[in-house]
Amino acid sequence: MSDPDGSRKQGTKLRSQQWFDNPDDPGMTALYLERYLNYGLTREELQSGKPIIGIAQTGSDLSPCNRHHLELAKRVRAGIEAAGGIPMEFPVHPIQETGKRPTAALDRNLAYLSLVEILYGYPLDGAVLTIGCDKTTPALLMAAATVNIPAIALSVGPMLNGWYRGERTGSGTIVWKARELLAEGQIDVGQFMDMVASSAPSVGYCNTMGTATTMNSLAEALGMQLPGSAAIPAPYRERGQMAYQTGKRIVEMVWEDLKPSDIMTRQAFENAIVVNSAIGGSTNAPIHLNAIARHLGVALDNDDWQRVGHHVPLLVNLQPAGEYLGEDYHHAGGVPAVIAELMKAGLLPHSDAKTVNGKSLGDNCRGTENLDPNVIRPVATPLKEHAGFINLKGNLFDSAIMKTSVISKEFRDRYLSNPADPEAFEGVAAVFDGPEDYHARIEDPALGIDEHTILFMRGTGPIGYPGGAEVVNMQPPAALLKQGIHALPCIGDGRQSGTSGSPSILNASPEAAAGGGLSLLRDGDRVRIDLNKGRADILVDEEELARRRSALSEEGGYRFPAHQTPWQEIQRGMVDQLSEGMVLKPAVKYHRIAQE
Ligand code: FES
Ligand code: MG
Repeated sequence: MSDPDGSRKQGTKLRSQQWFDNPDDPGMTALYLERYLNYGLTREELQSGKPIIGIAQTGSDLSPCNRHHLELAKRVRAGIEAAGGIPMEFPVHPIQETGKRPTAALDRNLAYLSLVEILYGYPLDGAVLTIGCDKTTPALLMAAATVNIPAIALSVGPMLNGWYRGERTGSGTIVWKARELLAEGQIDVGQFMDMVASSAPSVGYCNTMGTATTMNSLAEALGMQLPGSAAIPAPYRERGQMAYQTGKRIVEMVWEDLKPSDIMTRQAFENAIVVNSAIGGSTNAPIHLNAIARHLGVALDNDDWQRVGHHVPLLVNLQPAGEYLGEDYHHAGGVPAVIAELMKAGLLPHSDAKTVNGKSLGDNCRGTENLDPNVIRPVATPLKEHAGFINLKGNLFDSAIMKTSVISKEFRDRYLSNPADPEAFEGVAAVFDGPEDYHARIEDPALGIDEHTILFMRGTGPIGYPGGAEVVNMQPPAALLKQGIHALPCIGDGRQSGTSGSPSILNASPEAAAGGGLSLLRDGDRVRIDLNKGRADILVDEEELARRRSALSEEGGYRFPAHQTPWQEIQRGMVDQLSEGMVLKPAVKYHRIAQE
C-alpha cells in the first residue's frame, strides 16, 4: 500500500477494494474486475491499492458552459495518475442554464440524485467535481455532501470578456440593454444578435457576476476548490494547470481521508455568506447553500444570511452591479484577493476553516495582493455598504429575501423617502399568476397600474412552476415607462436571474402553490413593506384572510399548470420551499452514506 505519510491507518482498506480486491469474496471480485479490464486496465493496477478517483463530468455538447471540462479532464487525469491514482470519468446529467425547458433549476435535484447513486454505488475512493454553469455547482456539492467521500471541485472558469464596439459586454446582462435598443429602433435584428453573441466569445460560463461566478466563487470560499481556482478564465493556460493540480490533490485527500464534512462546516458556510456579499453574489446563492448545508446536516437558514452577511460591503466591481467582467476579476486576484481584503478589515468570520489543500482559508488568502483596486475595492472604499440580503417575514410569507444594496436612487426617492418612516412603504397589489398571465395583462388599463402599485408574481415557486422560475422582476407597463417610472416594487415566490440587478423581494416561501399567504392576495389589496422591521404584510383583516383561505381550499387550492414530464410530477410531490433550499424532502435524512 502506498501510504507513506497519509492519515489513513495502516492496513485500512480503500473503499474501492471492496469491489476489486476482496479476499473474502473472490467470486464477486472477479465479476467486478473483469469488466474494468476490458478496455486495457490491468489487474495489477486495480489490485495495487491505488485510489480510484471519479471525474464527475458535467461537460457535453448539450451544456456549452461546462463543455470545456471535456478538455480539462485530460489534465485532471494526468494529475491523478502522477499522484498514483486511477481516474474514472463518467457523465453527470447535463444542466445548461440557457438551454433547458422549462427551467434548468428543475434538473438540479435530478442531477443530485443520480450523482449520489454513482458516488455511492461504484468503486470510487474520491471524486473531482467539475463545476461551472449555475446549477451544476450546487448539484455536485449536494451529492458530495450526502455521500461524503473525499471530493474536490474544479471550476471550468468564466468565458473571456465580451466586447462590442469597444465596450465590455457581459453575458446575461447585455441582452437587457440590446432589447431596449432594438425596441427603440436604434439597432436592427442582425445587430441585436451580434451584440448579444459578443458577450459569449469563448468556452466557459457567464463572465458576469451571475449565479455561475457566484457559486464558483462560493465553492472556493467554502474551501472546496484549490485557492485561486474559481476566477481563472476557461481558455487560460492556468486553467489547465489548475486542473492538473486538482487531480494530484484529490489523491492526497483520499490518503488524508479529508471529506466534505470536514470542510463544509457551519464556519465555512458563514465565510461563504460573507464572501457572497463582498462579491455581489446572486440571490440564488441562499437557495443553493442552504441546500448543500441540509445535505450535510449543518443548520443554515435565511436569518443566518441576514445576520452574517447583510452588513458586509460590496467589493467586487463586476457587471451587473458594476463595470468589469471575469478576466478582470482574475487579473485583480480573484477570490483570494477578495478574502484578503475582508481579512484586513476583520470581516472574515472564520479564517481557520479548513480547505481542500489541507490549509485554512485564512492561510491560503492572507496577504494576497489586490492587483486592481478598481475591480476589487478595499473595504474602506466599497461600491456599496450593506451588500447582503435581508430576510422579510409577515402574513404574505415566512421568508423572502431582498438585496437592499441594489435599490436605485429613483426607487429610494419614490418609495423610501418619508422622513418619519424612511424604510417602509405601502402600495396596492397587482397580482399575476405566472409569467404568461403577466405578459397577457400588464398593459391592460383596467388594472389601473400607477406608481403606487406593487407588482406580485405568484405560481412561480418550486411547485407552481416546477423548479421555480426566474421571473419575479417585472417591467412596469409602457405608459409608466413613458412617464419615467422604470421600476415598480416586485414581490414573488419565484427566483430572479443572477444577472439581473433589480431590488425585488424574492424566493417567497411558502409559495402560493404550497398554500402560502401570496395565494390569498387579490388585485387592489393594500400591502405594507417595512425593511427596518423586516416585515411584509397584506393589510387585510384576519377574518377576511380566513374567508379567502377556506374559499380557496373549497376550490381545491391554488391551481398550477399540469405536469409535462414524469420528473416534474415526482419532484413536485416531494420538493421543499426555496427558503429551505428547494431540496427533495426525503433526501435530507441521508448523511455521510459512504461511512456506514
Ligand atoms: Fe451557464 Fe450563465 S448560462 S453560466
Ligand atoms: Mg440563471
